[in-house]
Amino acid sequence: MKILFYGAKDYDQQFFDKLAPQYPGVSIKFIEANIYEETASLAKGYDGICAFVNGDLGAPVIEELNRQGVRLILMRCAGYNNVDLDTAAKYGIKVLRVPGYSPEAVAEHAMALVLTANRHTHKAYIKCRENNFALNGLMGVNLYQKTAGIVGTGKIGLAMARICRGFGMKVIAYDLFPNKELDFLEYVSLDELFRRSDLISLHCPLTEETHHLINEESIAKMKDGVILVNTSRGGLIRTDDLIAGIRDHKFFAVGLDVYEEETDFVYEDMSERILQSSTIQRLLSFPNVAMTSHQGFFTEEALTNIAETTLQNAVAFRDGKELKNEVLG
Ligand code: NAI
Repeated sequence: MKILFYGAKDYDQQFFDKLAPQYPGVSIKFIEANIYEETASLAKGYDGICAFVNGDLGAPVIEELNRQGVRLILMRCAGYNNVDLDTAAKYGIKVLRVPGYSPEAVAEHAMALVLTANRHTHKAYIKCRENNFALNGLMGVNLYQKTAGIVGTGKIGLAMARICRGFGMKVIAYDLFPNKELDFLEYVSLDELFRRSDLISLHCPLTEETHHLINEESIAKMKDGVILVNTSRGGLIRTDDLIAGIRDHKFFAVGLDVYEEETDFVYEDMSERILQSSTIQRLLSFPNVAMTSHQGFFTEEALTNIAETTLQNAVAFRDGKELKNEVLG
């Protein structure tokens, strides 16, 4: 079975190469180019392709993959909002993903962003390096005894709820399908969550329903001085409304691992380029915003699990076994 691995980074190759010998008969070709319309034809002669969150798997790309004879799309990530599932289904192309490879990796990063943005550790570090030991601009707030609101209590949301509980916070949550696993979790309506939370952490997937869930109207419902963190998908937040809210001093701190325009930049070194879009710079110009580049998943444990499950998905498809990680439209 031949798989073309798009957008390969050194770390991807390292973790897949380590496990590949355990999956004889699966051969992987790693290429740096990401998948988009112009590169889809490179998949000629491959049974499957492997892509990540920043790949373009819209209808034209899937049509091209179909023309090249590809039957399998292996997403080496949990999210699949960048895949046109209807088009894949139309051509009988299977889409498999890696659900829950390490919920704690993402939840721990969400809390790292909360702490960074709240206590300004990103600024304090630079100040200390410059021999500036003054504390002005570094004031934070305690999380202890505050209320954390978790939107989406799947695997990552529950891990974040446990972490917040560990900080001595009261934890409330909103989900379409409440989960009874954690007895300390109080489910409330989305409006109530906005109204009561001191910290709001987003962990629901990006869907038509959740697109721009955080907008002018929902921001207005939030407490003044709320902390907002998004490690899920950029499209959950209407960025212009967030910027307006930050300017109105609505937020005490904002932590973003994902943002709306990230697809063009994410995982690339753009430090020598003049960027044409200013949204990221505008966000970073605020002293209470901390940003990272979609690295929530990036731990050794997560990369090991991603490689293992992706290879298992490939073998299950090849052997005609049950596809337990199939994504259906
Ligand atoms: P999951 O599928 O276990 O949980 C998602 C939860 O959201 C479910 O409980 C579901 O019922 C709920 N949900 C769905 N629609 C909703 C709505 N309209 N309102 C409220 N809740 C809703 O997913 P998991 O593994 O917890 O991942 C969550 C998201 O995290 C993924 O969709 C992905 O976008 C993001 N992610 C980010 C990573 C990063 O590196 N920053 C890495 C992995 C995932």
